[in-house]
Amino acid sequence: MSRLLTAAFAATMLQSAGVALAQDAYPNRPITIIVPAAAGGPSDTVARLVAQSMSSTLGQQVLVENQGGAGGSLGSGAAARAEADGYTLLLYHVGVATFAALYPDLPYQPIDAFDSVGLITEVPLTMVARQDLPANDIDQLLTALREDGDTMTFGTAGVGSVSDLCGMLLSNALDTEMVVVPYPGTGPAMTDLLGGQIDLMCDQTTNTAGNIETGAIKGFAVTTRERVPLFPDLPTVAESGIDNFEITAWHALWAPKGTPEDVRQKLSEALVTALHDETVIDRFAQLGTVPVADGQATPDALDTLFRSEVERWTQLIGQFTAPTAQ
Ligand code: MLT
Repeated sequence: MSRLLTAAFAATMLQSAGVALAQDAYPNRPITIIVPAAAGGPSDTVARLVAQSMSSTLGQQVLVENQGGAGGSLGSGAAARAEADGYTLLLYHVGVATFAALYPDLPYQPIDAFDSVGLITEVPLTMVARQDLPANDIDQLLTALREDGDTMTFGTAGVGSVSDLCGMLLSNALDTEMVVVPYPGTGPAMTDLLGGQIDLMCDQTTNTAGNIETGAIKGFAVTTRERVPLFPDLPTVAESGIDNFEITAWHALWAPKGTPEDVRQKLSEALVTALHDETVIDRFAQLGTVPVADGQATPDALDTLFRSEVERWTQLIGQFTAPTAQ
C-alpha cells in the first residue's frame, strides 16, 4: 500500500512542479519593445504591427515604449542596460550600426550589447519636401540644393538616425551643407514638414507613403537601388545622376546580451510568425515595404548583417568626418 501512496505522492509532486514550471515558462508577463524614436514615426509603425502579432503568438502583451533622442542611441542604450530576461527588447534599424562611429563617448558598444533576434523589413526612403517647395522634380531639387542648400532646412531624427544618415550621404554627394533640424523622431518632423516649417526630409515610406499619395507633401525620389512598386513614377536618386546613392532602413529586433537561448529562440519563432501575419504583410505593402524572407529572419542572419553594417558605416563615416588635410 505504501508503495502506491509513494507513487501517487511523487506523481502529484511532479505534476505540481510541472504546473509551476509551466507557469514560470517564458513569457509569463508582458514584454516591452523599446523603440528609440518618437511615437507616430516609421519605426514605431513597424514595431506596433509586429508587437500586435507577437502578442497573440506569445500569449502575453507585447508593449511598445518610445524613447526618442540622439538618433536612437539613447533608447538603444536603455535596451542595452535592461535585464537580459527577454522582457525588454529593442526594435530599430541600420542606425544601431552607426552609433559607435558617430558617438565616440557612447557608454555601450552596440556590437557587444545585444543578442540578435531577427531582421524584420528593409524599408525604402524617399526624398520629400513641403508641398509648396518651388522644385517640381528631383533634378530641380538637386540643383536647388547645390546652389542654396545652406538655406534649406532638412528634418531628421538626430545624428545616427537613418533620416540623418541619408542627409549625410546627400550633403557629401552634392558637396553642400543643409540646415539640419533634429527631432526625437521623424513622426514629429513630418508634422513640421506638413506645416511648411521645414523644407525637406529623407524619410521612410512607412511614414511618407500616405502624404505623398494625398499630395500633402512632394515626393521626388526613392533611395533604393531599384524603383519602389508603390511609387513607380518616382525615380531613384541614382537615376538623377548621383551614382551608387543607396540607403534603406533595415529594421531588426534585438535582446540585451546574455538573454537565455531558449527565450531568444521563442522570440525568433514569434517574430517569424509575425512576418507571415496577413495583417502585417498587407499593412507593410500599403506602406511600401515587405517582410524579409524566412532565411533572413534568423538570429544568425542578423548577426552577419549587423557585423558587416557596423564595418561599412564606420568606414563610410570615417571618410565624411575625416579631418581635411592641412
Ligand atoms: C523614426 O521612427 O522616427 C525613424 O526611424 C527615425 C530615423 O529617421 O531613423
